[in-house]
Amino acid sequence: MDIVLIGAGNLATRLGLRLKECNHRIVQVYSRTEKSARELADKLKTEWTTRVDEVSPEGQLYLVSVSDKAVEPLLCKIGFGKRLVAHTAGSMPLDVLQPFTDNFGVFYPLQTFSKSRAVDFSQIPVCIEANNPENLAILRKLGASISNDVREIGSEQRRQLHLSAVFVCNFVNHLYTIGEELLKEKEIDFDVLKPLIIETAAKVLEFSPKDAQTGPAVRFDRNVIDRHLEMLEEHPQWNDIYKLLSESIHQLHTK
Ligand SMILES: NC(=O)c1ccc[n+]([C@@H]2O[C@H](COP(=O)([O-])OP(=O)(O)OC[C@H]3O[C@@H](n4cnc5c(N)ncnc54)[C@H](OP(=O)(O)O)[C@@H]3O)[C@@H](O)[C@H]2O)c1
Repeated sequence: MDIVLIGAGNLATRLGLRLKECNHRIVQVYSRTEKSARELADKLKTEWTTRVDEVSPEGQLYLVSVSDKAVEPLLCKIGFGKRLVAHTAGSMPLDVLQPFTDNFGVFYPLQTFSKSRAVDFSQIPVCIEANNPENLAILRKLGASISNDVREIGSEQRRQLHLSAVFVCNFVNHLYTIGEELLKEKEIDFDVLKPLIIETAAKVLEFSPKDAQTGPAVRFDRNVIDRHLEMLEEHPQWNDIYKLLSESIHQLHTK
C-alpha cells in the first residue's frame, strides 16, 4: 500500500520501519520540524516535508501519528480530499477525523514504542476501527500484513484500553524510575532489581494480577509500611504515592 506518514516521532518511526519491511511503500514523511522529518525519511529512504501544502497527494492511506493535541489543528491545514486517513491514538475517538475526509479510521498498535528500540511487531495487537466496512477491510488487511493480532475495537473500548495501558505501562515505568532513584541514593545499581522486574511481569502471564500481589500492603504489615513512609520523608510526593498505592492494594484485597 502507498502510505504517507504524518508525524515522525516514536510510533511513526517504528511503524514506518515495519510497514517498509512488509513491502509497503512509504511515499513521504511529514513532520513539524526538519530534524524529525529528515531523520525518519532517511531511515525509510523516502521523501520528507515540513510544509502542510507539500503533503503528497499520492498516498492511498495517510497515517497520522502526532501528539494528540496537534491532530485537529494540523489536519485542518492539510487537504486530503476523499483519501483515507487514520490516526494511531489510543484515546482519540474515530469521529475526530470526520471533518477532514469522507474516509477515515483508527490504526492503534497497542505497545510502547521508542524511536531507538526495535520491537517484534508480529505480536503487537493492532486495534482498528473505521467509518465504513470498506475502510475497515483496508485497515484489517494492512494490520494483518504487519501483525498476527488485529482486532476491531470501538472508540469507547479503545479509550478504556488506553487508560488501562497507562496504568500497566506508563505508571509502572514511573515506579521503576522511583526505584532507580532510591537505589542511587545508596549507590546501588538498578541491575539488582532486574530479575524481580522480569518475574513480576512473567507472573501475570499465568495468574490474574490480583492473585499475584505480594508485599507489605497486601499483608497489611503496618510496621513495615510506617518505616517505609519514614524513609520517604524527604520525598513527600513519593511518600504520597506509597501511601495511596498501599491503601489501594489493601482496600482491593479486603473486599
Ligand atoms: N509512543 C508510543 O508508545 C505510542 C503507542 C501507541 C500509540 N501512540 C500514539 O501515537 C501518536 C504519536 O505518539 P509518539 O509517542 O510517536 O509521539 P512523539 O514521539 O512525541 O512524536 C510526536 C510527533 O508529533 C509531532 N508534533 C508534536 N506537536 C506538534 C504540533 N503542534 N504540530 C505538528 N506536529 C506536532 C512531532 O513533530 P516534531 O518531532 O517534528 O516536533 C512528532 O512528529 C499519539 O497519538 C500517541 O497516542 C504512541
